[in-house]
Amino acid sequence: MKRTKNTARPRVLRPGMRGWLGRGRGESFYVQAADEWRGTSVQVCGLWPFAVGAGTPMVGVPLGRHIHTGATLCCDPISWFQRAKLISNPSAFVLGKPGLGKSTLVRRMATGLAGYGVMPLVLGDLKPDYVDLIEALGGQVITLGRGRGYVNVLDPGEALEAAERLRAAGYEKEAAQVLADAHGRRHTMVSALVTIMRGAPPTDREETILDRALKVLDARHNGIPVLGDLLRVIQEGPQEVRAAALDRGDQARYQAITENLEASLVGLVDGGRLGETFARPTTNPMRRDRPVVYDVSSIDDTDMDLQAATLLACWSAGFGTVNVANALADAGLEPRRHYFVVLDELWRALRAGRGMVDRVDALTRLNRQRGVGVAMISHTMSDLLALAHEEDRMKARGFVERSGMVICGGLPGAEMPQLTAAVPFSRAEQDLLIGWQDPPAWDPAAGQEAEPPGRGKFLVKVGGRPGIPIDVQLTEVEMGIHDTNKLWHTVSRIGAMATQGSGVA
Ligand SMILES: Nc1ncnc2c1ncn2[C@@H]1O[C@H](COP(=O)(O)OP(=O)(O)O)[C@@H](O)[C@H]1O
Ligand SMILES: [Mg+2]
Repeated sequence: MKRTKNTARPRVLRPGMRGWLGRGRGESFYVQAADEWRGTSVQVCGLWPFAVGAGTPMVGVPLGRHIHTGATLCCDPISWFQRAKLISNPSAFVLGKPGLGKSTLVRRMATGLAGYGVMPLVLGDLKPDYVDLIEALGGQVITLGRGRGYVNVLDPGEALEAAERLRAAGYEKEAAQVLADAHGRRHTMVSALVTIMRGAPPTDREETILDRALKVLDARHNGIPVLGDLLRVIQEGPQEVRAAALDRGDQARYQAITENLEASLVGLVDGGRLGETFARPTTNPMRRDRPVVYDVSSIDDTDMDLQAATLLACWSAGFGTVNVANALADAGLEPRRHYFVVLDELWRALRAGRGMVDRVDALTRLNRQRGVGVAMISHTMSDLLALAHEEDRMKARGFVERSGMVICGGLPGAEMPQLTAAVPFSRAEQDLLIGWQDPPAWDPAAGQEAEPPGRGKFLVKVGGRPGIPIDVQLTEVEMGIHDTNKLWHTVSRIGAMATQGSGVA
């Protein structure tokens, strides 16, 4: 039989679309995703047209990788506001349970921004979480606390010198504004300290007396006054102050009117509950050309009033400095500087009493005009909403609502109604956040807890857009610098030695 040509060619077997069909032959039911690599347009230009965009913004500080796609996310409030125009004001609110890496995330932002020439200002570090970083950046560390350092609330800082420079350059109006701002700031600080001392704000009349007394002090006093000098002016009762007190020319009446105020000031000057932290000349004046951290970690958490008063003094000094820098830059006398202000553990400051919320409120509303990016960090919405007064609670919720971006770590399910009232989160996003706060597994082999599942995981939300889930991975350098558990590295043997010793004796 003659063979045809066709049958002579051996039959070529090819796998189907999903591999070899049939039992035990490796048929695949899933089409596997192609591997993805990331490169710059210079490196991968030849790959056209197989390149795709990242899908996540690439402007700003590299924060971490997208949990599902692995794409890098670059994000920080200043770059997203200034360059990418993704958010309406340069601020971020970070929420999440303790220990999940909020401070670490903000430290990453601060590190990256410092690389872009933005100056991080940590106005009150209670842990300390930022001191090592600021030191590594060559910045200024200002230590405050009982017996460790003082901040004079009547010190106008660099305002006087700046006003003189502005005047010399022919900017009369701007010089007057800088001085007026410094005056207002000092007045606010004295009122705030009195508020914290008494647990209630000073009366209208007392506010006016303080205002006049500060003006008298400025006119008469040589050098930088301290609270003791202010007290003396009020005790002496010059004409202007008497007029504000409405004493009707009666010395006894003047003394009766100013008695409460005098008592509060005496308490502040003579090392009352708030110590002398605010009544002595400033030990370490803040600079405006460096990263700065106020280290207030030596103040005990139970010393709530001192903590709040110190934080307030740090904010006041910090924003005063920013104001001076802006005025000088507006006049063209100095280069423009941008600052990244970090307010960590915000809830501690807010709960210290009425007036604190207003103060932060005023600061955060102005941040766009001031050329300042702000990161506020707190644990949960319920911490923010645990304030005594309804109007304070409304304002505290406003911080989250008004923030350009909200970054959430693991949060308990009970938080969700309050959170979604401020920022819309989808059901899936809420489940993600709740999953991240699960407790870590117990690792029987190592005899210790594994990493908490939610550590370093955050959802970045801008307005009603879907959140971007990311995983923050620390670099080796960061691990070296960012060690918040330093005190626990060496195992204490002192107690063991003491018991051994007594056993021998
Ligand atoms: N992305 C991360 N990878 C590894 N460890 C982390 C990460 N983020 C935080 N940590 C560690 O977790 C601990 C708590 O972090 P921290 O930022 O202080 O939390 P929080 O401010 O939320 O209380 C620190 O010891 C820190 O080094
Ligand atoms: Mg923290």
